[in-house]
Amino acid sequence: MITLHSLPPAQNAPHSASPRPGLAARLLAEGERLLAAQRPAEALPLLQSAAEALADGRAWLLLGEASLQLNNPVAAAEAAAAARAVEGATPAVLVLAGRALLSMGRPEEALAEAAEAVMIDRHGHDVRLLLGQTLKACDRHDEALAVLGELWQEAPGDSGATLRLADALMHAGSHDAAAELLAHMLDNAALAGQARSQALLLRAQNALRRGNLEAALAAALAGLEETGADAALHTTAAHALLAMRRMGDAKPHLLIAHRLAPDDGYVAHLAASVGAFLPERADAQYVCRVFDGYAPGFEAALLGLGYRAPGLILRQFEALLPGLGAEYKLRNLLDLGCGTGLIGLVLHDVVAGSIKGVDLSAGMLAAAQAKGIYTELRQAEINAALLADQEQWHAIVAADVFIYFGTLEATLAAIGRRLAPDGWFVFTTEALDGPQAWELGETGRFRHSEAGLLQALATAGLEPVVLRREALRREGPAILDGFLVVAKRAL
Ligand SMILES: C[S@@+](CC[C@H](N)C(=O)[O-])C[C@H]1O[C@@H](n2cnc3c(N)ncnc32)[C@H](O)[C@@H]1O
Repeated sequence: MITLHSLPPAQNAPHSASPRPGLAARLLAEGERLLAAQRPAEALPLLQSAAEALADGRAWLLLGEASLQLNNPVAAAEAAAAARAVEGATPAVLVLAGRALLSMGRPEEALAEAAEAVMIDRHGHDVRLLLGQTLKACDRHDEALAVLGELWQEAPGDSGATLRLADALMHAGSHDAAAELLAHMLDNAALAGQARSQALLLRAQNALRRGNLEAALAAALAGLEETGADAALHTTAAHALLAMRRMGDAKPHLLIAHRLAPDDGYVAHLAASVGAFLPERADAQYVCRVFDGYAPGFEAALLGLGYRAPGLILRQFEALLPGLGAEYKLRNLLDLGCGTGLIGLVLHDVVAGSIKGVDLSAGMLAAAQAKGIYTELRQAEINAALLADQEQWHAIVAADVFIYFGTLEATLAAIGRRLAPDGWFVFTTEALDGPQAWELGETGRFRHSEAGLLQALATAGLEPVVLRREALRREGPAILDGFLVVAKRAL
């Protein structure tokens, strides 16, 4: 993501006139100098000390900026809150808060901050930049292009403005226009440093999104030749190769990308899926990135693939509980990894009370919310949500979710603790034929064997009532087989 925002100069800061205790003021000045020199890791401890010592909003804003540059949006949001407590909701405070929210994958809340900032400062550059970026993240592409296009027209030679416009054009699906803008930028031999690297990356990503795999690979490799090792370019090259089904060629790129960006959970899971290591489940960053991206087209895509799990689960409940819906209902339902709410959609007619959905992906949850079926939706990791939950559930469903889990024992045990004594637990997995309990495929999804599932259920104190093979959906020309499982608490 492009983050080239600027802070107002020190002499314009609201508190710059107030005297600062000597040492803290020197720490602040040095921290600011290091930040301007693009050394945020060194700036951070100095700014932290200065911000804590001085009742000064600007110190908190600089600390927030350093935190953002170090990919710590949670710390940036805390710094924004501290700055707000000192200065109130100034445009600079709102922009920092909005950028932090955007980095945390909460674009709707970021948009609210941007809108408030625009009300105060309609012409502010950073304010409009945040507005454009949040609109883009909220998939409001026409509005994003209008705002970012206006900023670009004001400064067509500004590489930051051009990059953001190209990025927005790419997300809006205007790949030709994005490619033209980027080619024009890259033709300029004077374009150097971070701006050139970002343009090279965007050119490769734009080709990939357009589905031009050869061009994406060529652009990523050309970018790597210019910039040297770069995790995002290696990942883009790998994506192009994976889409061409050249797994062996993708692997070295993913291994290098993982080495360069070890904290990037998305890259880590991609590297794991080509055999770099064996995780117990998919990294939360991977799940969020994949499903936030899928969310807008998820249901249409699944429909096209003949996704059967919701219908299978409804029919299974009806088979186990004759008269369900007509004569009586399930007391309540916990939908783990609820996604866009397809399970809620098919089951809500047979549930009398609360329907709670849990999912990591804000994008998927927003689609579930729009259905107006769930009484509660929680953005959380399933295990954490189960630990925090106090309810006794009559039905717990996990449809097409354990494909992101390898080891199931701890999750199944936590489910057992939340299942009412007469409760039903229903889930699906992708099927693995073979001796081991589970494996991670090159698709990034886990598969489980029948023996592995039986073992995990027994360990968790759950008793299978149904465990049968079912076609789950199509994958390319093939049928994807899985298991449909119903379990109860063992007596
Ligand atoms: C393939 S979708 C299935 C969605 C829904 N159950 C359905 O059948 O349509 C998998 C969902 O599980 C969520 N998910 C995966 N791992 C998760 C985890 N550890 N905690 C919470 N949600 C998770 C994803 O965000 C995604 O929305």
